[in-house]
Amino acid sequence: MTKPWADQPFALIPPPTDAKVSKETLAIASGMAFAHNLIFRTLNAITLQYAQLTKPTDIADFLIYCQCFHEMVHSHHHHEETRFFPAIEAYSGVKGIMDTSLAQHLAFEEGLKKFGEYVYGVKVEEWDASVFKEKFDGFTGALVSHLREEIPTLLALDKYGGEKLKKAWRDMEKEIVKGPLDMYRVLPVGLGSIDNTYSKERAPFPWFIPYLVYYWFMRKHKGSWRFSPCTVFGQPKELPFAVEEK
Ligand SMILES: [Fe+2]
Ligand SMILES: [Fe+2]
Repeated sequence: MTKPWADQPFALIPPPTDAKVSKETLAIASGMAFAHNLIFRTLNAITLQYAQLTKPTDIADFLIYCQCFHEMVHSHHHHEETRFFPAIEAYSGVKGIMDTSLAQHLAFEEGLKKFGEYVYGVKVEEWDASVFKEKFDGFTGALVSHLREEIPTLLALDKYGGEKLKKAWRDMEKEIVKGPLDMYRVLPVGLGSIDNTYSKERAPFPWFIPYLVYYWFMRKHKGSWRFSPCTVFGQPKELPFAVEEK
C-alpha cells in the first residue's frame, strides 16, 4: 500500500517545450508553469489531507496552511493583474490583450474569497470537513483551468517580442519581493511545494534561502508545514494525513 502524493488529483503542468518560440518566451512560460505547479501541489496536498483531520491541534495547523495557500494564490494573481498584464498590454500595443486571462481570474475570485473567509474565520471547534469541501470546490475548477490555460497564452505572446515579455516578468518579480510579504507564511508554504525532481526549472532565489527558511522562518507556524508535499530543500515527502491506496 502506498500513499497518494501531491501530483494528483489535479495533474501537474508539463514543462513547456514549444520549439517555435524564442528562448526568452519559453523561459517565462516555464517560470509561470513552475509557479503554477507550486499552486497545484499545495491544492493537491489540501485535497488529500483535509478529510482525515480530527484533533484540534491538527485542524488549527491545517487552517493556517490553507490561509497561507490563499495568500500565495491571491498574491500571484494580484501581481499579474497590477504589474504583468498592464506591462504586456503597454509593450504589445494591443488594448485588452490579457482580457481572457483577466476574465479567468474573475471566474474564481468570488469562490476563493469565500474559501478565505472560511479558513480565516472558522473556529477549530466549528470545523466541518463537508463545509470546507464545499468552499474548496467553489473555486478549484475555475482556478485549475486558468492555471493550465495561462501557459499557452504566454507562448502566444512571442510575436510581440520575448525580450519584452522577459522584462515585464522581471519587473513583476521585483515588485513581489518588495512585498508586503509575511516571510513566516509565504516562504514555508511556497518552498514546501517545490519539487526539484520534477523539472530543470529552479526558483529564482539564492541557494541559502531554504536554509534560512528551515532554521528560522518555519519555526513560527511549525505544525502547519507538516501538510506540505515537499521539504523546503525541494524533495518530495510523504503527506502524513493522506489515506493509503490499496
Ligand atoms: Fe499565473
Ligand atoms: Fe493568472
